[in-house]
Amino acid sequence: MVLEGLRRLEYRGYDSAGVAVLTDQGIEARKKSGKLANLIGVIEEEPLSASLTGIGHTRWATHGGPTDQNAHPHLADDGALAVIHNGIIENFAEIKQELLAKGHTFLSETDTEVAAVLLGDIYRAEGGQDLTKSLQIASRKLEGAFTLLAVHRDHPGVVVASRRNSPLVVGLGENENFLGSDVSGFIDFTRRAVELGQDQIVTITPDAHEITDFFGNPAEGKEFTVDWDAAAAEKGGYDSFMAKEIHDQPAAVADTLLGRADAEGRLTLDELRIDPQELKGISKIIVLACGTSAYAGSVAKYAIESWCRIPVEVELSHEFRYREPIVDEKTLIVSISQSGETMDTLMAVRYAKEQGAKTLSICNTNGSTIPRESDAVLYTHAGPEIAVASTKAFLAQITATYILGLYLAHLRGNLFTGQIKDILADLGKIPAKIQDILDREDEIKDLAVSMAENQSVLFLGRHVGYPVAMEGALKLKEIAYIHAEGFAAGELKHGPIALIDDGQPVFVVVPSPRGRDSLHSKVVSNIQEVRARGAKTLVIAEQGDEAVKQYAEFVFYVPETPTLLMPLLATVPLQIFACELATAKGFDVDQPRNLAKSVTVE
Ligand code: M6R
Repeated sequence: MVLEGLRRLEYRGYDSAGVAVLTDQGIEARKKSGKLANLIGVIEEEPLSASLTGIGHTRWATHGGPTDQNAHPHLADDGALAVIHNGIIENFAEIKQELLAKGHTFLSETDTEVAAVLLGDIYRAEGGQDLTKSLQIASRKLEGAFTLLAVHRDHPGVVVASRRNSPLVVGLGENENFLGSDVSGFIDFTRRAVELGQDQIVTITPDAHEITDFFGNPAEGKEFTVDWDAAAAEKGGYDSFMAKEIHDQPAAVADTLLGRADAEGRLTLDELRIDPQELKGISKIIVLACGTSAYAGSVAKYAIESWCRIPVEVELSHEFRYREPIVDEKTLIVSISQSGETMDTLMAVRYAKEQGAKTLSICNTNGSTIPRESDAVLYTHAGPEIAVASTKAFLAQITATYILGLYLAHLRGNLFTGQIKDILADLGKIPAKIQDILDREDEIKDLAVSMAENQSVLFLGRHVGYPVAMEGALKLKEIAYIHAEGFAAGELKHGPIALIDDGQPVFVVVPSPRGRDSLHSKVVSNIQEVRARGAKTLVIAEQGDEAVKQYAEFVFYVPETPTLLMPLLATVPLQIFACELATAKGFDVDQPRNLAKSVTVE
């Protein structure tokens, strides 16, 4: 069961893996560097004894390289105690010195082993009886971010866990209970889950779970039911989760739109703990996010500014709080996070809250920290995203930001109900248009395979096409390990054009020739500029844009749609391109090197 849980959670980190089980003889542990398959190999060679209580971990290395030695679990209390940990313990060095002075020894370079030895030390000092209380005391001493899970030989059938700034959910089964970094760890066994708050300890046994704060005061968790099942977290016949998730996109967009508007075009958010009058009075929006989610924010900026006439800044979460941002009670912070656990974004949201801003979270993960700590929530209903490279979450995030934009425009009276209805109707047509692209995916797949040996690919776009270009480049970097850059097409002449050499592939996201004509012709000029310098031009254009053909080695047409909605279509061929090219190179597209799905450290 533990290995099955790890299989489902492996996307969160895959530098090494390990398990510990409680048996009649005490604790048995196995651990191994590399992917989960390596650990399974070790267990096959040296099977574990029968057990009803176990913990397991897959690691994304922070303190100490991804070696067998540094893999979790870490044992302490003469091998009677096993601990696993997510996060970073910031004061581990000073605690280690104290423990060394007391005569304790260490086998690894990790901060986790320090937590394990500290817990063992406290357990003994407290009389060697109460694991929960010992973890409460230990947690009060630790600084930083941590989810710690501990099992002890003296307490069969008990797992104790502690949580600060790092994810942890409880799964409630029949005569069995679970803990997981997210619900996928136990989705095979139960869909009933409990969210924990900050600085809480939970003790689970087969038939109970008890929550306290770090001082032992009883606390309550919030129970919820997971709205997807184990099948949603399977590949469903595709070669990779990424391929499957690309194909999930029509449903991801449709489900995110579902039930948002009544017949009059009035919109609803999932949770709104801000007075709509206050929302009406906001003077600026700051979008905080990282990676792909930040590109979704950049797309949103164009739509929200156009519909609501409110200035929108988009900032990488990790840069935000270090520049003394100007934030007050009239600022709406919109955080975008698939996982809801990205530490950089969580910290930025907390900082903004402290400054008095209102916070709204756009998130794909029910029960996660960022939505729980935000004043309002709009969930994207993309279903579980397993591949490290974000795809369906991106389209669902854009869709959700558009719902938010329309909601604010309605509240502030910037758009008439009829206009909102028209935009919602256009959004409603997007899933079928994505399906049309997916039905023609072989065109882009063939191109990708033919380009498997390329060393560098550039991406250009203007207006909403610019974040699409950035996203196209990010996909290629992270899964195909190819140098890729996205540029604003207009910026080309200010430097990047020097990169163009004979045969350099350049993807260009071309805006619709309808409506904003000047933009179309400017991008066509940019194509000609790079082509004149030897570039191989690969164009994503709107169906019917015949003019662009003469300037392109390759054209992929996306269905007609209003300009602001174009990213929901133009991104899809770029995702397919990256996925296919990385597959052709023989890479694991779901678990690219050096990355993890949820980045729960700063
Ligand atoms: O869970 P989040 O949306 O907060 O994650 C943010 C980024 O880490 C994430 O989008 C990352 O850039 C993806 N690997 C991109 O494909």
